[in-house]
Amino acid sequence: MKEQLLRKFEEVFGDIQGAKVYFAPGRVNLIGEHTDYNGGHVFPCALTIGTYAVVRKRQDRALQFYSTNFAHLGVIGCFLDDLVPDPTADWTNYPKGVMWAFEEKGMKIPFGMDILLSGNIPNGSGLSSSASVEVLTGFFLRDLFGFEVSNQELALIGQFSENQFNGVNCGIMDQFAIAMGKANSAIFLDTADLSYEYAPIELEGAKIVIACSNKKRGLGDSKYNERRSECEEALAELQQVVSVKSLGELSEEAFEQYKGAIKSEVRMRRAKHAVYENQRTLKAVEALKAGDILCFGELMNASHVSLRDDYEVTGVELDTLVEAAWKVEGVIGSRMTGAGFGGCTVSIVKEKCVEDFIRRVGEAYQVKIGYAADFYVVEIGDGPRVL
Ligand code: GLA
Repeated sequence: MKEQLLRKFEEVFGDIQGAKVYFAPGRVNLIGEHTDYNGGHVFPCALTIGTYAVVRKRQDRALQFYSTNFAHLGVIGCFLDDLVPDPTADWTNYPKGVMWAFEEKGMKIPFGMDILLSGNIPNGSGLSSSASVEVLTGFFLRDLFGFEVSNQELALIGQFSENQFNGVNCGIMDQFAIAMGKANSAIFLDTADLSYEYAPIELEGAKIVIACSNKKRGLGDSKYNERRSECEEALAELQQVVSVKSLGELSEEAFEQYKGAIKSEVRMRRAKHAVYENQRTLKAVEALKAGDILCFGELMNASHVSLRDDYEVTGVELDTLVEAAWKVEGVIGSRMTGAGFGGCTVSIVKEKCVEDFIRRVGEAYQVKIGYAADFYVVEIGDGPRVL
């Protein structure tokens, strides 16, 4: 892989003198969806698939970007002194946003760079290809210019750039899962204070299978920001009757007691999801620690139902994949993962049933939706690194 990337870099930028190769993973969230911007818990893990970068410093302040995933766009250039969001600059707005964020935080980037990216995360799949690029950019900036930032800070800078430069009000989950990833472990993160612990994922011979709906989505044009404001409004209403800083502070009982303060039925369902999903995440991690994988799977299923009925972020594509999965023998749990509105599902499937799962869910999807889904049996990998 490394050799192949260096050859491509040479082809695009002339030679490989001074070039270094980097990698940052993608992520999948096992449970705890749409809880991260509500002060709740999440349980994601980094994957072994992700984004590669070949980068070298230049003598001037020019930035030259090329991605093998967007080869038709060719080399896209700009200058360090001109880091502004530009719709015609396409995917380069993500690495540019991180460079802008470093500068905003007082870390001045002294030289431009030649940058080649190549990812094996399906684009727009909900496996966080954009957060992967953000963390990767922060990681190579730190390595090339010696900035003193921790991986946790790289996650926060990635989120800051996505919020401020790319206009998506995302939470911290994706960037954190990627920057702090650890092989064979999921990260149990409390987004209220960023305390976290690693939980080994021992699935007793079961596999994590991702089904990609191939319905493209971008967070920017989805209803993501709308859901976020609905939750904020519901919280403000609840704060009239109970003293809490976030929906994540409420137990199910407390929510039932105070929910009357929420003046719209829709906002009540949104808030209910945020509260119950957070509690499900706590229960799921307990179940996993106790070795009760079946209970973990049931909580995943309940998570999907809540995202479908109360939060309304699934859509026919994701529902078809999950509902077909629930019917297959050997499926321990299945749910949509990520923001929703398209993207992927995550299922835990007994190893001997994986082939049957892919065939049956694939057929049901093709029949109902009219085009194919893609399937990936994934492994949990480490965070960003130099190769
Ligand atoms: C996207 C966002 C995350 C999180 C999820 C939903 O992936 O980037 O911050 O809100 O959606 O759980």
